[in-house]
Amino acid sequence: MSKKIGYGVLGLGIGRYHAKAAFDMEEAELVAVCDARPDRLEKHKREYPEMYPDLTVYTKYEDMLANPDIDIISVATPSGTHAEYVCQALRAGKHVLVEKPIDITLEAAQSIVECMKDTGKKVACVFQNRRTPNILAMKEAIDNGRLGKLISGEFSVNWYRTDDYFADGGWRGTWAMDGGGSLMNQAVHTVDLMQWMMGDVYSVRSVMGLYNHDIETEDMTKSIVTFKNGAVATFTSTTCAYPGLSTDIGVHGTDGSIELVWGDVRTWKIRNESEEKMLEEEAAMKSGEGLANTATGADPNKVGGHPFHVQDIVHAVMEDRDPYVGPVEAMKALRIILAVYESAKNGGKEVVIG
Ligand SMILES: NC(=O)c1ccc[n+]([C@@H]2O[C@H](COP(=O)([O-])OP(=O)(O)OC[C@H]3O[C@@H](n4cnc5c(N)ncnc54)[C@H](O)[C@@H]3O)[C@@H](O)[C@H]2O)c1
Repeated sequence: MSKKIGYGVLGLGIGRYHAKAAFDMEEAELVAVCDARPDRLEKHKREYPEMYPDLTVYTKYEDMLANPDIDIISVATPSGTHAEYVCQALRAGKHVLVEKPIDITLEAAQSIVECMKDTGKKVACVFQNRRTPNILAMKEAIDNGRLGKLISGEFSVNWYRTDDYFADGGWRGTWAMDGGGSLMNQAVHTVDLMQWMMGDVYSVRSVMGLYNHDIETEDMTKSIVTFKNGAVATFTSTTCAYPGLSTDIGVHGTDGSIELVWGDVRTWKIRNESEEKMLEEEAAMKSGEGLANTATGADPNKVGGHPFHVQDIVHAVMEDRDPYVGPVEAMKALRIILAVYESAKNGGKEVVIG
């Protein structure tokens, strides 16, 4: 095989899953990791002794950017820093995989798109829940028209986070660096799934509040979401649902309904399709991997699904193709979230996205 694709990771919170995925890949070589926090670097060494001593460790991002053996960098730093670090990497000639949300303002996200065009490098964004088998099956059924014309949807992210979780790192639950609370940070995955399954959003009408945390941002939002295709959904996000419950997703059309609880099938009913076929599909999906394995109601450290995105960006570079989720696609969830905040700050007035 020709030279392996060199991989570097910035930020060793969730970034350690990126590092592990790159380390495990045949076609890639995990060259370096970078974190400004010595405790994070020490923890990484303790958790993954097999990566050392070959791994180069940096505390300064500029130093990692100067390493010519690195082709791709994962940016896994606080959300409000993403665009700055992504653009620095692109200008240094690297391709990038960036964590969700792409950033916390549309201007910052747009700067990534511009920088990507200017440099001709690739940018991929993490939305790992799209790859959950039952989510993929639901998306395929909707795209194939099996539910008919979409009428309504319900999306609820009933999670729980402690004040200790928000205190760690000093950026979570701040408007400046997290860009929001339960919606921008935890429920962004489900906002993405909602628009991916139900189509482009026309408008939102929302309320939000801070109910049970010592933070700046909201810890609960509720929205009525109207889609360009005329369907309407409700969307709830919260980090107050003690002790951390499920993510529930339901879509109803003229010809059927699909509901997933934690990614497992609660309802799979399609008009004019044989009961036998539906039961078969339902059984196949129940045995599949639910969202419980990829996102977390109670434990922020229990996350899966990153290997797909790391493998995808490595293969995208090798094959010179677009990655699975690019920045323009990732901006759709951001645009919806910012519209929810605008609506909630203005007494629930309808905010039209367009
Ligand atoms: N895809 C998912 O399911 C998922 C899960 C958790 C977090 N995230 C996202 O990942 C990002 C990071 O979240 P986290 O929970 O890992 O945060 P964190 O605070 O635990 O970790 C971020 C790390 O980045 C380091 N860092 C920041 N700026 C740096 C710099 N300039 N140089 C070197 N190191 C620097 C910090 O020292 C810290 O260790 C956020 O955008 C978050 O939304 C995604």
